[in-house]
Amino acid sequence: MQKKHYNTKNLDQELCWKKLTMLFAVLKENAPHEKRVSLTPDVAKKLIELGHQVTVESDAGKEAGYPNSLYEKAGCAVEKNRADLLKKANGVLTVAPFPEEEVTKLAKQSLLIGMQKPYQSASLLKKLASHKVTSFSLELAPRITRAQSMDVLSSQSNLAGYKAVIDAASEFGRALPLMMTAAGTIPAARVLILGAGVAGLQAIATARRLGAIVSAYDVRAASKEQVESLGATFVSVEANETGEGTGGYAKEMSDAYKKAQEEKLKEVLKTQDIIITTAQIPGKPAPVLITEAMVKTMKPGSVIIDLAAESGGNCALSESGKTVTKHGVKIVGSANMPSRIATDASQLYAKNLLNFLKNLMNKEGNALEINWQDEIVTATGLTHDGAIIHPTFKKD
Ligand code: NAI
Repeated sequence: MQKKHYNTKNLDQELCWKKLTMLFAVLKENAPHEKRVSLTPDVAKKLIELGHQVTVESDAGKEAGYPNSLYEKAGCAVEKNRADLLKKANGVLTVAPFPEEEVTKLAKQSLLIGMQKPYQSASLLKKLASHKVTSFSLELAPRITRAQSMDVLSSQSNLAGYKAVIDAASEFGRALPLMMTAAGTIPAARVLILGAGVAGLQAIATARRLGAIVSAYDVRAASKEQVESLGATFVSVEANETGEGTGGYAKEMSDAYKKAQEEKLKEVLKTQDIIITTAQIPGKPAPVLITEAMVKTMKPGSVIIDLAAESGGNCALSESGKTVTKHGVKIVGSANMPSRIATDASQLYAKNLLNFLKNLMNKEGNALEINWQDEIVTATGLTHDGAIIHPTFKKD
């Protein structure tokens, strides 16, 4: 294949980025609570070594601990004028959904990759399609072995689970481990994790390392063994239903199951000090697992960290992005937990992104060559060639 170098004059040609080396723009995120950056300097360097160019919007990595100077050292250009950068780049990389009001500033037929939150972004998708942007949403990557290195949900949830425990420990007015001192004994704290997926399992491991007595609950039967292998107790709900949905995710449970679950959790919650909730159902509001009546029965001074607060919350009293105290219980409605550990979260995200990009390129990695039959491409592709192409979002 003939390798051409990026040339702004080609931007208006049909599928201009095909067989071209890319000029990637790394944007400064402007969504609230977003400190992450899509590419870190060492990952940007890898793209440059493959023959691409990377231009970083000035201070894009500052909040995540990556100053402009590190990008310059890695061979990136730094651009202060965002509009100019959007105009000249043929590949735009973000963490949060691309701002809708800026779509028309993108070069036509450019490539856009980030986490576009497609279930909540119907009008963004329409705009991207009408502006002929080829866009991909990383959080739709299928849970197959080949896509594991691109799985942003896993990499970010893992860190979120860790950080949730650290936040809980700092909000909690007591210690987590059992401490026997000359002045008396401090009992170990009891930590309950609701939702034992990627974030939940990491939260279990972290809370155990801090010396807490940990138990966990999930609707998927497969999670019991994983919970127990980490040394935590599995909380079982007596019901003839399991929550296994498609692709490793959970499904929404029946009303009868929800009733049984409520009864069981009511009983367990009273004995706990810290609850970390992580339960999610893709494309749906998070299930409410802790009602106000349940909060009233909890011990004063206990802490709930709700990692699902942004998608409605697992606790009925959570407020996204806020910490509130209700009935003596501190409820932290965590918004964007991975951003609170932005240096590592950006590093893992950037590596996921690099692996995703390589899958869109030729064997040498020096030019885009998208295989539209590839399972990862079809699962993540949102818009292309003037249309919404993803089967789930086509009709919206
Ligand atoms: P998620 O973020 O969608 O949900 C978190 C957890 O909440 C899940 O474990 C889910 O079962 C649970 N949940 C949903 N509704 C609930 C309810 N009503 N009550 C209690 N818990 C509820 O899921 P996540 O963490 O992204 O992944 C779930 C599973 O997917 C993992 O445990 C793993 O088995 C699988 N997975 C597979 C991968 C692969 O094969 N490449 C990569 C990552 C995860």
